[in-house]
This record gives sequence, C-alpha cells and structure tokens, in this order.
Amino acid sequence: MNLLSAKNLSHTFDYELFKNISLDLHAKESIAIIGISGSGKSTLLHILSTLLTPDGGAVYLFDEDVSTLKKKRLAQIKRDSLGLVFQSHYLFKGFSAYENLEVAAILSNQKIESELLKRLSIDKNMEQKVTELSGGQQQRVSIARVLTKKPRIIFADEPTGNLDKQTANEVMNLFFEYCKNNNAGMILVTHDEELAHKCDKVYRLENKELVRIQ
Ligand SMILES: Nc1ncnc2c1ncn2[C@@H]1O[C@H](COP(=O)(O)OP(=O)(O)OP(=O)(O)O)[C@@H](O)[C@H]1O
Ligand SMILES: [Mg+2]
Repeated sequence: MNLLSAKNLSHTFDYELFKNISLDLHAKESIAIIGISGSGKSTLLHILSTLLTPDGGAVYLFDEDVSTLKKKRLAQIKRDSLGLVFQSHYLFKGFSAYENLEVAAILSNQKIESELLKRLSIDKNMEQKVTELSGGQQQRVSIARVLTKKPRIIFADEPTGNLDKQTANEVMNLFFEYCKNNNAGMILVTHDEELAHKCDKVYRLENKELVRIQ
C-alpha cells in the first residue's frame, strides 16, 4: 500500500504552476522537493496534505481518493494520520508549551513522550507560554506536537528554517528515525540541497514539472 499517491496533479493561480505531477510515498520513505522560490512547492504540499483542492488530478491517501471522501472521514484522517509542519507554527499563543502538546495528545489519544522533548531540547521549556519562547523553540514545540500525534505521513515545509545548522540536523534525524520506526513517510519541502539529499528520493519542481534527481 502507498501512504500517498498523487496522479497527474495540475494547478493554476495567476499562471499555471504545474501540470501532470505524479508521486508515490511508501512507508519508511522520505521524499524531498526542491525548487526556486515561487515554483509552487508549498502549493503542491498544500494539495498533497488536502489543504487545497487541485485544479486537475487526484490525491490518494492510504488508497482512498481524497476527493470522494466524506467530510467526516477526511477530518478523521487529517486528525489521526497527517502531521503538518509548516513555517508558521499555529501554536495556541495564550497556552504554555506543555498545554499545546496536551491538546494534540488528547485529540489523538496518545501520550506525550518525555524522550521526544529531550531530543528536541525543549523539555526545560514546557511551562513557558508560547509567546515567551524563541522562534526556534516554538518551531520545535510545533514539531513535538506533530510527532505526539503519531502521524503516518509528515508534510514539512522548511521545518528547520528557524534553526541553526546543528539543531536543524538533530531535528531532521529525529524525523528520519520517526519514519523508520513508525512505518511513516515524509514529504519535505526545502531550499537546503544538502538536507534534501539525506532523503530517500529528491525531486525538483521546475518548468511546471516534477523531475526526479535522486
Ligand atoms: N492562495 C494563492 N492565491 C494566489 N496565488 C498564490 C496563492 N498561493 C500561492 N500563490 C502564488 O503561486 C506561486 C507559487 O507559490 P508557492 O508558495 O507554492 O511557491 P514556493 O515554491 O513554495 O516558494 P518559496 O520557496 O518562496 O516558499 C507564487 O507566485 C504565489 O504568489
Ligand atoms: Mg514555499
């Protein structure tokens, strides 16, 4: 079974961004998508993660065509199986770091793992309000929140954009391990070619097409 399968996706905003894009994601696999600014990477990630409906083509999640799913079923898949790590963090600002994780844990019926917090070096920040955390700490809390859900697919758009190189490496290693240990997959959008090449497959979005380069 594919975790995700995209068939002939196309999308246009002011101009045609891409067409005929197909992609498969298997369990334990990581895929990187690179490409110049404005090429449509984030748009593609929004489509793959069901936040945006494509103009053409279809997205299958766990062998189900997303466009045919009932609202309730789609909401359930999003809540339980998809983990979105985007550049703006969407943390609840008035709450503490811990309370933000608690929400995710309760909604998905999972536990908050102290090991995860240690790996992300945010275990000492749990009582702080989100507004009292640095940008990089907020980013790591949002990553902890996503992993606490135990998603089957991680969609990450520049997830380490606010982090120094060493912390970024540690965070990415955590993602890779997570995928291997939980039969999950990851689609990563990044400008960092070195990071991209740590993924199992690398694609470049250019001239409206998705070209495999690794
Ligand atoms: N909701 C929208 N409405 C109209 N145009 C949009 C919308 N979202 C994105 N665009 C346009 O689509 C193009 C691709 O945007 P997108 O965010 O997908 O690029 P990107 O490859 O992620 O770029 P970056 O590397 O800078 O993040 C841009 O020209 C952008 O202005
Ligand atoms: Mg983008």
